[in-house]
Amino acid sequence: MRDSLDIDRIAFFGRTYREYLDMFGLNEDVLRKGRILDCPAGASSFTVEARAKGINATATDILYGLDADTLLQKGRKDIGHVFEKFDEVAHLYVWNYYKSKDEVMAVRTKALELFTADFSAGKEEDRYVRAELPHLSFPDKAFDVVLSSNFLFLYGDRLDLDFHKASLMELLRVCSGEVRLFPLIGLDFKPYPYLDDVVEFLHNEGVMVETIGVPFEFQKGANRVLRLRNGQGKV
Ligand SMILES: C[S@@+](CC[C@H](N)C(=O)[O-])C[C@H]1O[C@@H](n2cnc3c(N)ncnc32)[C@H](O)[C@@H]1O
Repeated sequence: MRDSLDIDRIAFFGRTYREYLDMFGLNEDVLRKGRILDCPAGASSFTVEARAKGINATATDILYGLDADTLLQKGRKDIGHVFEKFDEVAHLYVWNYYKSKDEVMAVRTKALELFTADFSAGKEEDRYVRAELPHLSFPDKAFDVVLSSNFLFLYGDRLDLDFHKASLMELLRVCSGEVRLFPLIGLDFKPYPYLDDVVEFLHNEGVMVETIGVPFEFQKGANRVLRLRNGQGKV
């Protein structure tokens, strides 16, 4: 048994629309009101499923320069890599939302397949945009809601504090409403160690910051989101 998930890469992984609603504590009505950005979206099917419901969603990821088939192969390989290590840490997860490792793998595979089936057409329509944080090509306030999951904070062992600060400011730049981030813990299942520094930095930039509880907990202790809103400029 181990006390952290030992993976050698930032996994090209994805979640479904239902998982997004639950992990971000979102009400579908909020999503229907505006333009939504998922960054980084990885192999998530959030955007394709949201679009099918008439929601104006856009997905970005550093790997979106690749073609659909390469992304499908990469996604399958990364699901294999993460879940081959999973038994060592299964005791660190809460088994309510999902009942078994097989179920989680099936949901990840479903997200990957829905995403890759939509990718080529979606890229033509600019629903999938290659982007490398901490820089995004979108104009200021291009989106009403920005969602960012399973990247910042989670991979705090390999993304440094300056990268976090710059990425958060960039997500805020392209947002006119709110940015939500999940989870607030790392692959070691401990709270992100510099969260207080990040919050102080954001306050100094005039950003309104709150943490809110969500009806989702898989990694033990990962049941809160950080919600950020642009204030009236620097305080
Ligand atoms: C674990 S996935 C998270 C995907 C999705 N948000 C979710 O919750 O399932 C992390 C993603 O970050 C992407 N990534 C890594 N570095 C990045 C960067 N600098 N800018 C944008 N995306 C990046 C990876 O390609 C990967 O798809």
